[in-house]
Amino acid sequence: MSTNSIDSLLQETRRFPPSAEFAAASVTSPAIYDDAREDRVSFWADQARELLHWHKPFTETLDWSNPPVARWFGDGELNVAYNCLDRHVIAGNGDRVAIHWEGEPGDSRSYTYSELTAEVKRAANAIAALGIGQGDRVAVYMPVIPEAVIAMLAIARLGAVHSVVFGGFSSESLRSRIDDASAKLVITADGGWRKGKVFPLKAAVDGALENGTSTVTNVLVVKRGDNDVEWTEGRDLWWHDELAKADAEHEAQGFEAENPLFVLYTSGTTGKPKGILHTSGGYLTQVASTHRNVFDLHPESDVYWCTADVGWITGHSYVVYGPLANGATQLMYEGTPDTPHQGRWWELIEKYKVSIFYTAPTAIRSFMKLGRQIPQGFDLSSIRVLGSVGEPINPEAWIWYRDVIGSGTAPIVDTWWQTETGGIMISALPGLTTLKPGSAQVPIPGVKIDILGEDGTRVDPPQGGLLVVSEPWPAMLRGIWGDPERFRETYWSRFSKDGNWKYFAGDGAHVDSDGDIVLLGRVDDVMNVSGHRLSTQEIESALVSHHMVAEAAVVGAADEATGQAVVAFVIIKSQQAADHTVDEASALLRTHVAQQIGAIARPRQVFIVSELPKTRSGKIMRRLLQDVAEGREIGDTTTLADTSVMQIISDKMK
Ligand code: WT7
Repeated sequence: MSTNSIDSLLQETRRFPPSAEFAAASVTSPAIYDDAREDRVSFWADQARELLHWHKPFTETLDWSNPPVARWFGDGELNVAYNCLDRHVIAGNGDRVAIHWEGEPGDSRSYTYSELTAEVKRAANAIAALGIGQGDRVAVYMPVIPEAVIAMLAIARLGAVHSVVFGGFSSESLRSRIDDASAKLVITADGGWRKGKVFPLKAAVDGALENGTSTVTNVLVVKRGDNDVEWTEGRDLWWHDELAKADAEHEAQGFEAENPLFVLYTSGTTGKPKGILHTSGGYLTQVASTHRNVFDLHPESDVYWCTADVGWITGHSYVVYGPLANGATQLMYEGTPDTPHQGRWWELIEKYKVSIFYTAPTAIRSFMKLGRQIPQGFDLSSIRVLGSVGEPINPEAWIWYRDVIGSGTAPIVDTWWQTETGGIMISALPGLTTLKPGSAQVPIPGVKIDILGEDGTRVDPPQGGLLVVSEPWPAMLRGIWGDPERFRETYWSRFSKDGNWKYFAGDGAHVDSDGDIVLLGRVDDVMNVSGHRLSTQEIESALVSHHMVAEAAVVGAADEATGQAVVAFVIIKSQQAADHTVDEASALLRTHVAQQIGAIARPRQVFIVSELPKTRSGKIMRRLLQDVAEGREIGDTTTLADTSVMQIISDKMK
């Protein structure tokens, strides 16, 4: 619970009602809350009918007879890719730009809806020719290039299931995800641009498949980095060759609303990442609805930019499916915000006249640190809505974001949701809500949230508690791939009783005196580093996989730039201790974690210690280590087996 303190928020008195002009032109009216309150389920049915094309209309909206697995629009059929592409062309919007894409080195391409539809049809035929059909899993390991979106939509068009793996994950992480989902095909690139260099994706795929036991039969490779790649004849194929051979026409078939759309892995409290399963009709309904209402999207005039990588849920829901289902024009950018210069993002906003901008607090804080003169060197007057996601946004960053990026007038929507929720769950609606810095504020229409105490009863404001979702929602996860037991245990066992199923999100929250929800951070062993989820146990496992490590404990420590940072405490095996200096060992282990999981998991610090604080039953007391890592007075040590351990550790760190 790092970024938001209840005390500072209680003193937050600034309020920002929508301007009369903004409210008048908004896509939402107050009736949206009334409709949803009156009948939540039929509200979602209306959204599904208004926003999507159904190959076969549904007659049943929600089937919750087999909790915790919901069926939404169960007897309906749709094609997700058709909804994101063909129908916009048929409606006469084929010449509207779907994607303006900008590569890090400055190359650019734009696709109209007609062009994107044509590409996806070819890609679908090419992928089908490799034996992929309904229900098959395809791993996608790509940079942020248009082909990543084309691949995802082509897979969806076939009724197959994509598993996108963030390009920053290691070969090892890719391997475990490919194996867990038994993927048949991997789609990757020869590289992608990041910080002025090409990072080698294909080599990581080769590494992931090298043990030869994989279910993968083909690897499709997009040419992007122009670097040399190793080639396995018979397995590896160039994307451009296969697409050139493929037929240009492809008719989209309707699939059941509950047909799986994708699996996306995320970190939980245990070492092994879990494959979150999302299906088609409910997911697409909620992401289209929230993308329109939360960002006040006017698809004919707005230019929307979400800076997330397609490898995360934000990229799935608010780069690919939400915006394209709504026929929006959007910008996609391959690289980092500081390459080749620190004003790169603002330059892009000016160039493409971006009007809706969605990013993470960690990015906002790093720009704050660089100073407002950098964004002020660009014309950002096109911005009319700002969004924030991934972690709590502190009021200072909120005000800076509005003043400097939003010309002092743009509403900010602070959107709370998760990989598991599929779409936004708590957020202001910019045409309706009076905004308050530092609070995600209110559930979106049609979503029911409660804050419960440890005993499962509702807490009275302003007391803090645990956040639950009390009614099923359309974009909810349908399970953990291959592990129904873990699904029940992780999310549903804590608060469900007497036939009342409550989804436990893992976040702490409180309701303030205005009735607004304030998020307080994770309550489990999940860290939030730059808006990305990491598990303490996963990093501990990576550390102990190194031959010199005897024991390891990892904590998330508050960090000004990244929200939380990974801090590790490690005991080195006595026979190895003499081989390296403490600094060498710590550097080696930081690199080792990055190689095992990916650079995002690299610990900020690795402290070599001689003991870890444990209770008499042998449980590591991470809370005490967190006190040390955050430079605080060490808390109560009376339950430790050896009370002197913490003194030794903290003396050593000084
Ligand atoms: C966790 C989910 C949702 C896409 C990005 C992260 C934290 C997310 C907010 C917010 C406070 C937030 C929560 C949540 N979180 N958005 N607006 N305010 N906290 O998805 O990797 O599944 O992580 O991110 O702790 O549980 P994710």
